[in-house]
Amino acid sequence: MFPTRRQALKTLTAAALASTALGRLSSYAQTPAPTPAPAPAAKAPTGPFTLPPLPYAYDALEPYIDTETMHLHHDKHHAAYVNKLNEALAKEPSFFAGTNIDDLMKNLASVPESIRTAVRNQGGGHANHSLFWLTLSPKGGAPKGAFAKALEADLGGIDKVKQEMAKAGGSVFGSGWVWLVLDGGKKLTILTLPNQDSPLSEGHFPLFGIDVWEHAYYLKYHNVRADYLSAIWNVVNWDFISDRYDKAIQA
Ligand SMILES: [Fe+2]
Repeated sequence: MFPTRRQALKTLTAAALASTALGRLSSYAQTPAPTPAPAPAAKAPTGPFTLPPLPYAYDALEPYIDTETMHLHHDKHHAAYVNKLNEALAKEPSFFAGTNIDDLMKNLASVPESIRTAVRNQGGGHANHSLFWLTLSPKGGAPKGAFAKALEADLGGIDKVKQEMAKAGGSVFGSGWVWLVLDGGKKLTILTLPNQDSPLSEGHFPLFGIDVWEHAYYLKYHNVRADYLSAIWNVVNWDFISDRYDKAIQA
């Protein structure tokens, strides 16, 4: 039986529609679906603290501290402390009145509880590393003036200090620092603190700290922290530390 004209038209129309739909489908298959516009990223706070530049070239402390470690340590780890500190402070906008990082760490107890741990860790990281870069230098040298005398009187001299700091730094479990500080009575003291805890928060004035977390030495010294603690003395900026001691003792 032949289809009626109406039936034939219906069949043609259906075929045409199917063909068009297939054509569309095939053209969709060939053209990548448009990528939706990315959602606007949450804007990271850009202050109040910023990453200080290194006071020397990244390769300046070679071969004792290698270039790649300096890049990672400064550009990634220190930068992360700064960013996370700013993020924490942004959560308590009425608290922070623009003090410097050392004063913030000295007054950690007055930081709102909701962000105190973050400020302790990230602010401590920023304070400690900011000082660390300044206390290193390719020039090396030796303690001088009143500081050299105080090292002798309080701690038995620079050789003893190197031994004691290497020993104490080697005993830190996990992340932390070994510090040469002026204690509350302005006496030179060696101590260790865990993680990024700042000596300032403990009532001490830091003169020189050695970061003994693995990120400070692992690329060059692998797991042999003792070799790093022995090599670092070649690049200590004793002029800077001696001057820092003089200013602190006169304050
Ligand atoms: Fe570090």
